[in-house]
This record gives sequence, C-alpha cells and structure tokens, in this order.
Amino acid sequence: MTDMQHPAGGSFSRRDMIKLAAGVGASVALPFAPAFAADAAVRSRPIPRTGEMLPVVGLGTAIIFDFDSGTDAAKRAERRAVIRTMIDGGGRLIDTAPSYGRAESTLGDLLAETGVRDRIFLATKVRATGSRDACIAEMQESLKRLRTNKLDLMQIHNVGFRDRGETAAQLALLREWKERGVFRYIGVTHSQEQQSANDRLIDLMQREKLDFVQVNYSMAERSVEQRLLAVAAETATAVLTNLPFARAQLFRAVRGKAVPEWAAEFDATSWGQFFLKYLLANAAVTCVIPGSDKPEYMADNLNAGRGRLPDAAMRRKMVEFVNS
Ligand SMILES: NC(=O)c1ccc[n+]([C@@H]2O[C@H](COP(=O)([O-])OP(=O)(O)OC[C@H]3O[C@@H](n4cnc5c(N)ncnc54)[C@H](OP(=O)(O)O)[C@@H]3O)[C@@H](O)[C@H]2O)c1
Repeated sequence: MTDMQHPAGGSFSRRDMIKLAAGVGASVALPFAPAFAADAAVRSRPIPRTGEMLPVVGLGTAIIFDFDSGTDAAKRAERRAVIRTMIDGGGRLIDTAPSYGRAESTLGDLLAETGVRDRIFLATKVRATGSRDACIAEMQESLKRLRTNKLDLMQIHNVGFRDRGETAAQLALLREWKERGVFRYIGVTHSQEQQSANDRLIDLMQREKLDFVQVNYSMAERSVEQRLLAVAAETATAVLTNLPFARAQLFRAVRGKAVPEWAAEFDATSWGQFFLKYLLANAAVTCVIPGSDKPEYMADNLNAGRGRLPDAAMRRKMVEFVNS
C-alpha cells in the first residue's frame, strides 16, 4: 500500500461521524516532550510545477478575518498576533477569498500595517460567475482590498458547482493574468464532500495545467485519498487542504480522549498536531490551511510541520483510534 491510498478504504461514514461526535470531556496534556527542538524549522515541500519551497502549514481566513478592522481593535490585535506567530514560526501561506465578507480588506490592512506582505505567500479566489468583465472586476477588487499588485495564487472558487465551459474560460483569463505577472500561480478549489466534486477536479488536473488545487481533506473527510491525491502527484499539481479540522468537528469528536502515548512516535503532542500530521504524512499534500484566531493555536498548528510524520501503518492506527 502506498501513502496515497486510504489505509482503511473509503471515507468516514455518517455513522462514523456520529460516533466521533459522541466523544465527551476535555483533552489531556501529554506526559512527554516532542523529539524536535522548539525552534526546529517547519518542514517545507516543493511546489511541483516550479520547485519553489513552501512551508507545509499555513493559515485560512474564513469567518475569523471577517470583521470591521477599523473599529474592532481587540480582534485586530489578535489577528495581527496570529499572522506574526505564523511568520515568526516559519509559516508563509495565507488563504482568503472575496466571499469571506471583510476578510480580504482586514487581511490587506494588517499586511500593510505590519509590513510583511513580502513574507507571505498570498492566495485568494475568484467566485464571480458569468461574464469575463465580472471576473476581471472582482479580481481587481481583490488586489485593491489586499493592497497588493501581485498575488502568489489565484484560485477559481468551488468549481464543483460551476459550468465546465465557464471554468475553462475563467482559467484562460487567469492564465492571461499569470502571463502578465499579476499571479504567480493559478488553481481551483472545492470544499464539498461529494465524490463528484473530486471527479471534476481530477478532470481539470488532467486536462489543464493547474499549479494548485485546494480540497476538503481531514480525518473526517478522506475521499480525496481514493484517487485525487494520486492524480495531483501524477500531474505535478500542488495541493492545499481546506477544512483540515472539519470546522472543529474533529476536536469535538475527541473531547475527553487524551492524545495517545504512541503519538510520541511521530512527535504529536496535541490533537491539532495529530490531525494535521495525518494529512501531512501524505506526500501529495503541499500545505494545510487551518483557520484560527488564536496565536497559541497557530503555534500549535505550526508544530505539526516539525518532527516526524506517521507512516502508513500508523495512519491506519490513527483512524481506528479517532473512530473508536
Ligand atoms: N471552497 C473553499 O475554497 C474553502 C471552503 C472552506 C474553507 N476554505 C479555507 O480553509 C480554511 C480553513 O477552514 P476553517 O477555518 O473553516 O476550518 P478548520 O480549519 O477545519 O477549523 C477551524 C476550527 O479549528 C479550531 N482550531 C484551529 N487550530 C486549532 C488548534 N490547534 N487546537 C484546537 N482548535 C483549533 C479553530 O478554533 P478557533 O476559531 O477558536 O481558533 C476553529 O474553530 C478557511 O479559513 C479557508 O481559507 C476554503
């Protein structure tokens, strides 16, 4: 069995998730320290199309960056600390979207205020449907809100719902902007749980030369293990994994369970690291993008990019444990 394959076959069933969600109590600190040094570098992986190295843990901005940064000073300071923690800890990628309310504007403000734009691999999306002009207007607005004239990655948002012809036309537009140097990389996303959305991405990866795909992948939603991750590797497409904690559903599922002692074998000392290391153990995953408004969670998530990763046998054991 390769690392690409699902260790137990298939993804979590609805019944599995109900069992997961039935966990009780609070998580317990571990009686061991990880084997890596506190200042060890976060692992990086190459973007397959170019070989550029990217740290494997980034940050998502849905919901948590959607507030009025002009009036909410406390939230603004907290999000600034999250970004600072990410950069100081060795992370680089931040993912946002025009559909996340005020997230792009807030992020743009904070990047300008802290002067760290150049240290960030900045990814956003285009959701506009319909005319080419509507797409252009939305992408121009994103650049304005993010206070930048270049983006590292532009992704077509949620292609699972879109008309095929429209996606092809949008990709052509994104390529034009890439050739003009406005975008360094282009890609597509989805966050659905249906296999049909994975199939759409597989088809696009095989027909179009995508730089990145962004997919829903967590210990609660593993359908990409069936085929999509293998196709990403075959087609030299980088993979970002959204919803890596299934929107905190995984933490609720293990509430009351201590992280098992054998997690020390892959240097996981928290549930956050446990869940992220499961994903990162798959070599096709380029970067995970958990969302958090807490610097301590950001630091915890970065630790998933340090130390050892579980092998295939260990990943089977992890699934059984979380699902027991
Ligand atoms: N179609 C798409 O393209 C698409 C769709 C959905 C999401 N996304 C991207 O994926 C990103 C991630 O999704 P998400 O933020 O909705 O869900 P998520 O990352 O799966 O889960 C976020 C939740 O996990 C908690 N958390 C984070 N780190 C933790 C830690 N170390 N320990 C304990 N709890 C922790 C957060 O708590 P706190 O809130 O308390 O910090 C929050 O409740 C989004 O921000 C977005 O960029 C893309």
